[in-house]
Amino acid sequence: MDVLEVVVVAFWAMLPAYVPNNAAVLAGGGPPIDGGRAWRGRRLLGDGKTWRGTAGGIAAGALLALALNAVRPSVADAVGVALPEFPLAVVVAMPAGAMAGDILASFVKRRTGRQRGAAFPGLDQLDFVALALLFSLVVAPAWTVETFWPSVLAVVVVVTPLLHVSTNAGAYALGLKDEPW
Ligand code: CTP
Ligand code: MG
Repeated sequence: MDVLEVVVVAFWAMLPAYVPNNAAVLAGGGPPIDGGRAWRGRRLLGDGKTWRGTAGGIAAGALLALALNAVRPSVADAVGVALPEFPLAVVVAMPAGAMAGDILASFVKRRTGRQRGAAFPGLDQLDFVALALLFSLVVAPAWTVETFWPSVLAVVVVVTPLLHVSTNAGAYALGLKDEPW
């Protein structure tokens, strides 16, 4: 694969993990997952992690993965790149992992004294990638290794933070998000 092909595959394969965060911003609201509970004087997760946002994020990512599977043959033909098909278990695992990563990051932020919405550079940009890939690895090890290792993963780690920063800045500019990160 040449570099452009690797970038196309990386973007395609990560889309079901990218979309949940953005969908959660739109779907969010209602009761927080931690039910308002605190641990050692700080919220467990905070008001920014809600059941509705999480469910909406997972649903959006899974639906997108199914849609990508449906259009894959024609897109692969059109761009001349062999694109991966998401196994059914991965259709759910990647979006669920992405949301789990974001939730875990909020847990870490609260434990380190960061208020809701505070930035945590590095963690904010890669939490969802790490857990989406981990979940995928658990449900479909061979497919995950074959699809992501090693060049695609390298591109994912470099490109994801750039995409994350720019989409969040865009969501902030549109008034959808409270902070630009
Ligand atoms: N959101 C949600 N449920 C999630 C993730 C996000 O409802 N599982 C919604 C919330 O409305 C949240 C917004 O999306 O405020 C932005 O998400 P994020 O930046 O992850 O949350 P923050 O509010 O910044 O909180 P934290 O500091 O815990 O990341
Ligand atoms: Mg935030």
